[in-house]
Amino acid sequence: MFKRIACNLLNRKTTKELLERAKTGSLKKSLNAFDLFIIGIGAVVGTGILTIIGTAIQGGPESIGAGPAIVFSMILAAIACVFSALCYSEVASIIPVSGSVYTYTYATLGEFASWIVGWVLMLNYVIGNITVGSSWCGYLTQLLKGFSAHLPSFIVNFPIWLRSDFRSIYAMCDKYGLDAHDKMPFIFGTIPFAINLPVVILTLVSTLILIKGIKESTRFATIMVCLNLLMIISFIVVGSFYIAPENWTPFAPNGLNGILMGAFIIFFAYIGFDAVSTAAEETKNPQKDLPVAILGTLSFCTILYILVALVLTGICPIGEINTQAPIAAALHTINKDYMAGFISVAAVCALASVFLICHLASTRILYAMSRDKFLPRVLRAIHRKYRTPHIMTWCVGLVIIVCSLFMDLNISAELCNYGTFTAFIAICVAVIVLRKTEPELNRPFKVPFVPLFPILGILCCLGLMIYSFKHLSSSVLMFFAWVIIGIAIYAGFSYKNLRK
Ligand code: ALA
Repeated sequence: MFKRIACNLLNRKTTKELLERAKTGSLKKSLNAFDLFIIGIGAVVGTGILTIIGTAIQGGPESIGAGPAIVFSMILAAIACVFSALCYSEVASIIPVSGSVYTYTYATLGEFASWIVGWVLMLNYVIGNITVGSSWCGYLTQLLKGFSAHLPSFIVNFPIWLRSDFRSIYAMCDKYGLDAHDKMPFIFGTIPFAINLPVVILTLVSTLILIKGIKESTRFATIMVCLNLLMIISFIVVGSFYIAPENWTPFAPNGLNGILMGAFIIFFAYIGFDAVSTAAEETKNPQKDLPVAILGTLSFCTILYILVALVLTGICPIGEINTQAPIAAALHTINKDYMAGFISVAAVCALASVFLICHLASTRILYAMSRDKFLPRVLRAIHRKYRTPHIMTWCVGLVIIVCSLFMDLNISAELCNYGTFTAFIAICVAVIVLRKTEPELNRPFKVPFVPLFPILGILCCLGLMIYSFKHLSSSVLMFFAWVIIGIAIYAGFSYKNLRK
């Protein structure tokens, strides 16, 4: 019996099956390398460089900061991504089907591993959206502050417990020596209560938009990407005139530990280039365009991020870097209030669109998992009028709202990183396995030096993950709890349902 169960767990979908399914798929093949590059930039540039960079430089409640040496952390994080990006390129060019690493794992490591990978991918898209939402709220608050002379005081001074989570309030009270009881209500006098109402509203609006269906999404995404880039490039250009090199000393206040922790935290800013591979089925020439777009996105972002980091740490002493909206706040310190206002408006728009895209992506991956019988059929019910998976969309929205009650920006970003590291490790393993099991496949793009490069990818991801375990406790516990819940769902439901 154990042998049968083991065989079932390793049950694979052949690449031939997946390619057949892609052929019968009704998705239009209309994207070229540039469109993919735009999708990549759209998915990658966001909360990481707009908000998380503050924590990576300064440190968070459970992490130490890299200081100006964040540029080394960024290079390290980019190196950890390069090997996985090459592996994504190879697998996506062989199996250009939707579902990303979840699907690739099904073809290489089998049923159980693919469920776990799909399940932890939800940390990226669903829990990651709590990070995006909190960052969006941070820039919204900055924007409202800019209008303090024109807006009623109850909007500008909106109580913090209605626009934050209880962990962030505790962290703020610790930092400034305040009493948490003055900042938020306590249920029965002991349980702290705070709710991020702007994020709840954003989630509800995003759910309703996605249920109605979004048209013209590529054009909308392109506009948002341009706005995002314009905002970041203008920060680099304007800020570079105000750099005071003395702010770069000490360069690495926490030494190698700070740089490594910074690399783990800022890794969040690189997540998303794999979104390019999810569009494989809609790409005209996937074999050539996918690798070009994935590697192009990664190189472009690394250069952009290094420039932002140099300017940010150059114009603001580390201790003064704001961790909720660092870019806009830094511009206030050099008296560029109009510029800060523009950045805040752009960030609010861009982050809202990132939120929408991640919400959409999560429902599509869950849809694929439900189509593969891992999740109940009812979840993929299609709305009669709008033809969208409305129940799935609501479920994801509710999970975001409930989890945002007890997760702050840092914890959700750390969980998101764990999810991505797991997916990256899976893709590196997939390359090695596919080279062994299906060596005859046509590989338009080949990772050089296999198995060395995939092994280096695995080691980089595992190394950063294990290193972070030493420092972080809340997110590590939550990550393992998430994996255990995933295993329980598989054992209690998916395993039987797949064999019906
Ligand atoms: N890299 C994406 C961001 O920074 C997830 O928002």
